[in-house]
Amino acid sequence: MIRLSQVPDTMRVMQQSRPRVLSGIQPTGTGSHLGNYLGALRRWVAMQDTFDAYYFIPDLHAITVPHDPAALRRRTREAVAELIACGLDPGRCTIFVQSQVPEHAQLCWILGCITGYGEAARMTQFKDKSARKELGSATVGLFNYPILQAADILLYQADQVPVGDDQRQHLELTRVLARRFNTQFGPTFTVPSPYEIHEAARIADLQEPTKKMSKSRPPAGTINVMDPAAQIRKKLRSAVTDTDRDVRADAEHKPGITNLLTIYSAVSGKSVERAEKEFAGSGYGDFKDVVADAVIAEVAPVQRRYAELMAEGTTVDDALFEGRTRARDVAGATLAVAHDNVGFLLPGGSGRGSRP
Ligand code: TYM
Repeated sequence: MIRLSQVPDTMRVMQQSRPRVLSGIQPTGTGSHLGNYLGALRRWVAMQDTFDAYYFIPDLHAITVPHDPAALRRRTREAVAELIACGLDPGRCTIFVQSQVPEHAQLCWILGCITGYGEAARMTQFKDKSARKELGSATVGLFNYPILQAADILLYQADQVPVGDDQRQHLELTRVLARRFNTQFGPTFTVPSPYEIHEAARIADLQEPTKKMSKSRPPAGTINVMDPAAQIRKKLRSAVTDTDRDVRADAEHKPGITNLLTIYSAVSGKSVERAEKEFAGSGYGDFKDVVADAVIAEVAPVQRRYAELMAEGTTVDDALFEGRTRARDVAGATLAVAHDNVGFLLPGGSGRGSRP
């Protein structure tokens, strides 16, 4: 484990001159699923050498729906271990837990004061989650969720945010709030761009392939990265298909097969067209078995590394210690500028309110 103090100056300069990315994954449910892995985590790994990358576990977001405190604590640690097991290297990127950086909640308050009520009420994730009875009655926290997400991104002056299609609306709100703040109070925030993820941007539920794979859906339709091989095969074998016989992508008429082709293409690195040719004439059963082999081979090394990390423990602790320090450096500096620009009197005589 490299401590920041040991990172050579040249590396720090390199990090500073690279564009910055930031993204987060919630510590809820039974761990990361294949949608998170293919749509997000694998990208994050690829980006850690070309970007100054910040990745975090949004535990403040996780309490916007009813939760169990002991499970949240356990899952937060496991989620960090999963990130490292997937290939994120704490020496090459910054990994942290949101609640350990209090600036997120502080900037959320300020941004909430420039967000219209109607603007927040229009967010589709809020509408979906507040309509779901099993999540209890909607809270003000759930309503504020996208504003907190904007604070997460703007605090780090992120240039790009790699997210799947489901997060696009929240990113658009972030851009609107950044511009609005900069116009009202002076240049403060970088306006972030979505990092375009094309293939695997939306992995669907295996049982209801018109819905996205999600931690809050029943387990039969969701493949978790940590699922045992036999379970992955069973879930894929029982994936919903259609009465046709062709292994062919057609999102409208064959959403189940299209989803399996998307998964296969993402894990094998072959294009969907090439995969269609490979399975021309095969039955759905054979196709599903090959998809299962490919998925199992992809997650096996991640599972091995995860077991090692959970058994030894210090890599995760060290990563979080370093991550929190680096994250607070950046977040603290941005928040100070935001406070100054919005008119708060800064402590210690710095800022515009200081005596000449
Ligand atoms: P979360 O935890 O739901 O998902 C983490 C990442 O996985 C992507 N994803 C998917 N990609 C493809 N197919 C799917 N079925 C699928 N399901 C999820 C998501 O797009 C995301 O990139 N609100 C965010 C967490 C967050 C965040 C942030 C992200 C909080 N603050 C700031 C970016 C920047 C969320 O709940 O992601």
